[in-house]
Amino acid sequence: MNAELFADGDAGLARRRRFLRTSMATAAMFFLTPGAFAEELVKTPRQTEGPFYPDKLPLDTDNDLLIVNDGITPAVGEVTWLSGRILDANGNPIRNALVEIWQVDSKGAYLHSGSSNRQQRDANFQGFGRFHTGSSGEYLFRTIKPVAYPGRTPHIHYAVKTKGREKFTTQCYVKGEERNEKDGVLRGIKDPKARESVIVPFEPLKDSKIGELAARFDIVLGFTPEA
Ligand SMILES: [Fe+2]
Repeated sequence: MNAELFADGDAGLARRRRFLRTSMATAAMFFLTPGAFAEELVKTPRQTEGPFYPDKLPLDTDNDLLIVNDGITPAVGEVTWLSGRILDANGNPIRNALVEIWQVDSKGAYLHSGSSNRQQRDANFQGFGRFHTGSSGEYLFRTIKPVAYPGRTPHIHYAVKTKGREKFTTQCYVKGEERNEKDGVLRGIKDPKARESVIVPFEPLKDSKIGELAARFDIVLGFTPEA
């Protein structure tokens, strides 16, 4: 071996290192640059909060709506694992978001003193739940598949609260539900892509022996909250 070969080898190594560094930098830029995927993301449309956010919050506000406090009888309904991510306009996960959901029980009653059918309310259904997102922006609830009540197709209400911002309210719907076509609130979302983005499949949870369902609903906020 001569000195020239060594020199060439070093140069080759340096070239390879440079190439690796550049490739990694490019990859990092692709993944970290805000806006890299922005055009593919559909911002979740805001929808009305409606009149039935609980007027008196339950004592139990955890993310399991099927069991109230340490009750042993679960709520009636099709058990659903409802999850998703809270994302900013650039697709980055939002941590420390407070995700709240509320919905009617299997009898069509809200946890609200003005709800219709409230005499028949399922006392085992929590009706409302909260989840604080971590760094992944993920949230998770165990609840029931929403049912229709007079005038509305099945839906679940959401409020997302983030630092320094007004709360964001929206609703999610069940894919394949024929009443969706006639629902005034859902039809009020004029942009077809935005409307589609709030309709999600409720599908059998793989390997569930008790027929549980799973649904994913990502919420893309049109802003980036304060850290
Ligand atoms: Fe509602």
